[in-house]
Amino acid sequence: VDLGVFLPITNNGWICSKTSPQFKPTFDLNKRVTLIAESLGFEFVFSMVRWRGYGGETEHWDHSLDSISLMAGLAAVTETIDLYATVHPTTLNPAVAAKMFTTLDDISGGRAGLNIASGWDKVELDSFGVWPGDEHYSERYDLAEEWLHIVKTLWEHGRCSFAGKYFRMNDVVSLPTPRRRIPVVNAGMSPRGLEVSAKFADTSFVVVPDEDLARQFASSLREQTQTDSNSAGMKMTALFTIVAAKTDEEAQSIVEHIRAGADADAIAELVRRTSGASVTSDALAKMILEKRRAFHCPLLVGSPESIAEQMRGFEASGVTGFLLTFPDFIADLEFFGEEVLPLLERDRAPV
Ligand SMILES: Cc1cc2nc3c(=O)[nH]c(=O)nc-3n(C[C@H](O)[C@H](O)[C@H](O)COP(=O)(O)O)c2cc1C
Repeated sequence: VDLGVFLPITNNGWICSKTSPQFKPTFDLNKRVTLIAESLGFEFVFSMVRWRGYGGETEHWDHSLDSISLMAGLAAVTETIDLYATVHPTTLNPAVAAKMFTTLDDISGGRAGLNIASGWDKVELDSFGVWPGDEHYSERYDLAEEWLHIVKTLWEHGRCSFAGKYFRMNDVVSLPTPRRRIPVVNAGMSPRGLEVSAKFADTSFVVVPDEDLARQFASSLREQTQTDSNSAGMKMTALFTIVAAKTDEEAQSIVEHIRAGADADAIAELVRRTSGASVTSDALAKMILEKRRAFHCPLLVGSPESIAEQMRGFEASGVTGFLLTFPDFIADLEFFGEEVLPLLERDRAPV
């Protein structure tokens, strides 16, 4: 099973609360987290891209760093860990992106990965004029497909001519080509999102609060990869926030304490923005408000033994990797490394 950290590229990470650890995203913080993850033998770190936060008293996600340049900085100070950066295809021309990732792969000595986020947040993308219009809700994966086709062609052949609905390339040249095939991942969870993952991506990132849903996504992906060209099969990495402590009771009380401070105004804005955007994003936001209260991600809560058992359950349901977040990215990642990691039996690829 692969382990990764979803880096704190936004303030306060994936918890929308006044009583969780409060921090701003800095290179220094992300570097410390990445070096700990690398020393623990994690396979990868991953950063998302956000342009517009949700306000409230905690200024939730109003502060964020850029994903690709953060990874370029991390590439220079790490040695083994893979580095996934995210792009919204409406914000970056594919020829520019192809070259940026070739450069990132060169700086890191072959450790770069690309996550494509099709972009669903009209307020966010419209704020700087890169929302293509309301038809984008239904066409976002068509645009993403064209974008990926161009990027992959440039990586493979170093030049591309293309006349599509969204992009036009007129014998664009991008040399050098990367020294290896740069992995692509996608977190689309709608049927069309999964289809694009199956066609273009090596790993599909999913949000699966329970094992039944994990099994459903794993089987949809299996079906898709059988019908599409991606015959190598596909990995499925699930996103969780780990709240671990010495005992189950202690861990649960940390969750309750954080929930008591939920930033209701920021959560309300998040729900308002996702309404109608994409079925899955909408459902996720409502879950934050109604079920998980203050937590973006599904939770794994408990003692080290409980956490390891829950992770094994998801693994048995088709999850091949875990993308982890923590309330405190330093102390809690270290605790995970000391107490939970030894309980997980992992087939680690030789470094
Ligand atoms: C691990 C993970 C990372 C994501 N990163 C981003 C991101 O950086 N920017 C973004 O706008 N959306 C991001 N998303 C949202 C997805 O791109 C996607 O819109 C969402 O999972 C819903 O799927 P759908 O668009 O197919 O309905 C992410 C989702 C997941 C699970």
